[in-house]
Amino acid sequence: RPARDSRPGPHTVSVVAHRGASEDAPEHTLAAYRKAIEDGADALECDVRLTADGHLVCVHDRRVNRTSNGRGAVSALELSDLAALDFGSWKGRATDKEEPDRDSRDSVSVLTLERLLELVADAGRRIELAIETKHPTRWAGQVEDRLLALLRRYGLDTPPPGEPSPVRVMSFSARSLHRIHSGAPAIPTVYLMQFVLPRHRDGQLPPGVRIAGPSIRIVRNHPDYVARLQREGHRVHVWTVDDPKDVDLCVRLGVDALITNRPKRVLSQLGR
Ligand code: G3P
Ligand code: CA
Repeated sequence: RPARDSRPGPHTVSVVAHRGASEDAPEHTLAAYRKAIEDGADALECDVRLTADGHLVCVHDRRVNRTSNGRGAVSALELSDLAALDFGSWKGRATDKEEPDRDSRDSVSVLTLERLLELVADAGRRIELAIETKHPTRWAGQVEDRLLALLRRYGLDTPPPGEPSPVRVMSFSARSLHRIHSGAPAIPTVYLMQFVLPRHRDGQLPPGVRIAGPSIRIVRNHPDYVARLQREGHRVHVWTVDDPKDVDLCVRLGVDALITNRPKRVLSQLGR
């Protein structure tokens, strides 16, 4: 009898919607996350930053200029300033139509992490959340402390017995992941990598990290790296995988999760 292949096959690769279904809807908005849930994504990815008045909001860039009709750094704006902006029209989803209803306004407003947690809680099926802390060193631990407090409030710092955690925290910053791991060891952490660094060739991910998050560029250039990470006991979540050829490559290599802007197309390619 052939040995059982313990690597995930095409049906067990987790499909993670990067900033929501961000190819189809403005990134990091309720519209994008609702679409990802409708599309059948297994998990949602979001970037978090702190506003000037200490709220965690889902915004990728340091400034709001690219993704809204406003200007300025998230860290210099209060939540009420951000709430007055339109995060949809840059992607053709204007909210300044005549008397937009509250729901259409909300769907392209700034999204707080708390609202995203509520959306996931109300989804009616298991959806995982992959939360990325952005440039946390600027805030000397405040992003992580607020994040931990919020996750504790929602009971997400400890998974139900026997179940995997529905939340994980990702970062390019080892220090950020260390702070999360120290505060809530049951929350898996993902170390994001843009390049293969020498210390990673030795298998040394930061202490406590369970999941490696290499870019697709790393995987293309060093396909054997995936098996090596997995042999060393890590799961492998690859970003950002939109090209069908890259999806095939990742499936062949047995990666554990694909982070993509187009969850619907990827799910269909995987036969789901
Ligand atoms: O999922 C990881 C990926 O999102 C990291 O890059 O710039 O899209 O946040 P970035
Ligand atoms: Ca991200």
